[in-house]
Amino acid sequence: MLPIAELHLHLEGTLEPETIFAIAERNGVELPYADLEDLRARYAFSDLQSFLDLCYANVAVLRTSEDFADMTTAYLDRAAAAGVRHAEVFLNPQAHVERGVPLRDVMAGVTGPLSESLRTHGVSSGLIVAFLRDEGEESAMATLEAVLALDAPFIGVGLDSAEVGHPPSNFARVFERARAEGLHCVAHAGEEGPPSYIWEALDVLRVQRIDHGIRCLEDDQLVQRLVQDQVPLTVCPLSNVSLKVVNSIASHPLPMMLERGLKVTVNSDDPAYFGGYVDDNFDALMGAGHLCAADVATLARNSIDASFADPSRKRQLM
Ligand code: ADE
Ligand code: ZN
Repeated sequence: MLPIAELHLHLEGTLEPETIFAIAERNGVELPYADLEDLRARYAFSDLQSFLDLCYANVAVLRTSEDFADMTTAYLDRAAAAGVRHAEVFLNPQAHVERGVPLRDVMAGVTGPLSESLRTHGVSSGLIVAFLRDEGEESAMATLEAVLALDAPFIGVGLDSAEVGHPPSNFARVFERARAEGLHCVAHAGEEGPPSYIWEALDVLRVQRIDHGIRCLEDDQLVQRLVQDQVPLTVCPLSNVSLKVVNSIASHPLPMMLERGLKVTVNSDDPAYFGGYVDDNFDALMGAGHLCAADVATLARNSIDASFADPSRKRQLM
């Protein structure tokens, strides 16, 4: 197995149905589902919002730092088995603080296992604090300030949740502030939103990677820019099919993106909801005849190169 880095992974999206039930029981949280089957039956999404509604309803079971630590460790277990040797994972603190969970507990729960992940799992890691874009700039800025004040270890900021109607340019000041703190900057753009959101993420937020970005193919000048600057795109094939961004794995544009010289990586996004982890995404692409051995090697190399791992770790993994 070639070493790979996973660069687009939402910790909240790794909660498996069994784990949701187990943590709910531990915390005495009543779930609005009769049983596991009832919950699983709801994993048929019509679009991004229909997924976000379920995913962020299910995080209601997370109450203590132990819950957040268990979620993080379960992901590291599965990622290590998938061949992931470096992981940069998203967390949305707003989704938890608004429910009354102290930010300190959220951050301690997640950063505990991440800070030990190289020793425990052979996976180097970093945390990216992501802002719920539908909650606006003021809330994002307050979240950034609160996380900075905690002095908890994180490597960067991201922008996720409902894309359309919430352009990157709304968050210019937040990303400026993050950059001034020496944080890395990434943003979801061009998943459901138009190519203009990718331009804004590049030119206004000055991000180092675009999460998803598949709609860049609708704008030749944008493709040219992304190729010229070798801006990494963290593509999530099973997510795109599940959220009806593309019709099928067979018609996924990843082969076209590689062919055009874009710096593509393969990731799982929300693996508990979209039918699999990063190895399952590779398997699906190969099953559809999309990848030759050289493509797999390119994607693996891209993922390490596009990561924010330190240079010595990158050399180890290349
Ligand atoms: N949050 C979790 N997964 C997401 C996705 N694919 N797009 C936007 N926000 C998300
Ligand atoms: Zn995502």
